[in-house]
Amino acid sequence: MIITIDGPVATGKSTIAKKLAQAVGYIYYDTGAMYRAVAYAALQKKIDVNDPKALDELLKDFDFRIKFNRGERGYYLNGQDITDAIRKEEVSNFASKVSAIPQVREKLVSLQRQLAQGLNAVFEGRDMGTVVFPNANLKIFLTGRDDIRAKRRFDELRGKYPEETKDLTQEQVLKDLHERDEYDMNRQYSPLKKAEDAFEIDTSDLTIDEIVFKILECRDLAAQAAKKKKQ
Ligand code: DC
Repeated sequence: MIITIDGPVATGKSTIAKKLAQAVGYIYYDTGAMYRAVAYAALQKKIDVNDPKALDELLKDFDFRIKFNRGERGYYLNGQDITDAIRKEEVSNFASKVSAIPQVREKLVSLQRQLAQGLNAVFEGRDMGTVVFPNANLKIFLTGRDDIRAKRRFDELRGKYPEETKDLTQEQVLKDLHERDEYDMNRQYSPLKKAEDAFEIDTSDLTIDEIVFKILECRDLAAQAAKKKKQ
């Protein structure tokens, strides 16, 4: 069984996917981390991502792994721990650009489908319900008001990187968030959009537990609908 969660920046996708996966005993995948890892590698190696040959080389060597250490997940690229590095603003902004390139999407979509083989899993990203798993058993699309999303992201960044974000303002975070959403929604390939058969949940005024509860209700509705369709 596959559950997909899509939605714009800072709607709580990762936190919710993690909590939901725990509640139902599934594995969860944060596919944004893969796009971030490609962006990180390109920045590190100073690769021109518009050069298809150079990008091809980078993708050929792309060995992305998730490892668990005392319950915490760590992301590794070719053996290097990149868990924290891929959350920095520079990588976030470049990940949005990199994820618009068809060559990158092809590679990562194929990896994501391989990962899902024979698993019960929650996959979280932007095109999970529309492109990667069009036949998912349950599709969720999360939304949230701008002010709430900006505050969430601002608090997260300030908490994680107090030194680097000393001069950061919530207005700047809101601007970056808009830019990334615009880019993700308007790119030519696999733009961010709600799948027709996805349940939409506005997360602005709900706690994480309330959202997970709502998703479990949606799961029951989806199961009933699937049963009816079979009869
Ligand atoms: O969810 P995130 O912020 O970690 O994602 C980083 C970037 O990757 C974001 O700009 C959108 C892109 N992305 C994507 O295009 N498709 C996905 N399935 C996941 C993320």
